[in-house]
Amino acid sequence: MSERVRSPQARSFRIAVLPGDGIGPEVVAQAVKVLRAIEELFGHRFELAYFPIGGVALRETGVPFPDRTREGCLQSDAVLLGAVGAPEFDANPPPLKPETGLLELRRSLGVFANLRPAVLLDPLIAASPLRPEVVRGTDLLIVRELTGGLYFGTPRGIERDVAGNEVAVNTLRYSRAEIERVARVAFHAARRRRRKVTSVDKANVLETSQLWRRVVTEVAAEFPDVELEHVYVDACAMYLVAHPRRFDVIVTENMFGDILSDEAAMLTGSIGMLPSASIGGRVGLYEPVHGSAPDIAGQGVANPLATIASIAMMFRYSFDLPDEAAAIERAIALALARGYRTADIYRGEGQLVGTEAMGDQVVALLRDVASSA
Ligand code: NAD
Ligand code: IPM
Ligand code: MN
Repeated sequence: MSERVRSPQARSFRIAVLPGDGIGPEVVAQAVKVLRAIEELFGHRFELAYFPIGGVALRETGVPFPDRTREGCLQSDAVLLGAVGAPEFDANPPPLKPETGLLELRRSLGVFANLRPAVLLDPLIAASPLRPEVVRGTDLLIVRELTGGLYFGTPRGIERDVAGNEVAVNTLRYSRAEIERVARVAFHAARRRRRKVTSVDKANVLETSQLWRRVVTEVAAEFPDVELEHVYVDACAMYLVAHPRRFDVIVTENMFGDILSDEAAMLTGSIGMLPSASIGGRVGLYEPVHGSAPDIAGQGVANPLATIASIAMMFRYSFDLPDEAAAIERAIALALARGYRTADIYRGEGQLVGTEAMGDQVVALLRDVASSA
């Protein structure tokens, strides 16, 4: 095979690919097609190395995050993940749950800031269950703290008290340093957007939130050009569906961010649209916000756009290649503008397509975008 002539700007990257469970492999395959198209169109080279995680890893190796996977990820320039989780493991103890594999991955990489942009593209206004006048123009970014809080705090576990009753414990703990660093990510992001940060907490009840609010307010002093507001998490859940345009950047702790981001997904039409980038650690992690969707796995109907848009975030945050990122985002927008819809965003108009066909459309439109650039 003849070597393509590479431009001086062409670069090489190692990407660890972790397809995982359920629809994970189906959507990751579409993202990989996009990577191959970028290689061809822009001259970069991607060396892909596949590793097991989650249920797949449990079946192959007995653990959800094998050492080989950890090492492969740490030796790469970026990690692409599909999703983890399968019903057959739901009753497993924590060390043997697929989800624990994902938490170990995030902690091993040290990716404490999880960026989850919720942007409603105009062609999808009818796909959101909310009224057009409410959702039109939604463009917000959730910055979710990812390596602390209830997910990682100790002590944790299920025990019996002296009377023999079962008691379960989780610990919500945040240090000043953990809050400061994720707050800075949010303020920096706001500077590149509309310069407003909404910090979400439950400071009327929780000490962790009281420290959170105090530290975020202190960090805000370093960013006098960015407006800061504090909103309680329950009210935030309400404002998200009542006035989504009031939000620019939302910064919040791990579990609040998990819940609010699935809610925010519905502003964009479907959870199948929401990408994410997890940054701040040794290697960036890119994954759709959705899970393994066992209810539709294996049917070829999952929406691959969240995963493809996560690749765009990889180009922007890990590779510093904003033109390639923009080209991918443009191709996604064009596919939607031309009416292609997977089942989750199909509302009776346009053309209903499966996972593969949506991936093919994005690749074809990416070629158009790159050739007209
Ligand atoms: P889910 O996100 O997998 O699915 C919720 C609903 O959204 C389902 O009806 C599903 O069909 C639909 N959906 C999700 N992604 C879609 C896509 N790309 N296209 C079309 N429809 C899509 O959440 P769940 O059902 O609560 O969890 C299923 C499993 O996934 C569980 O084991 C859970 O722990 C795991 N999970 C993993 C991740 C992750 O790997 N990051 C995230 C969330 C949930
Ligand atoms: C997500 C998921 C994960 C989380 C689970 C699968 C551990 O829901 O990425 O949003 O809670 O972080
Ligand atoms: Mn979640």
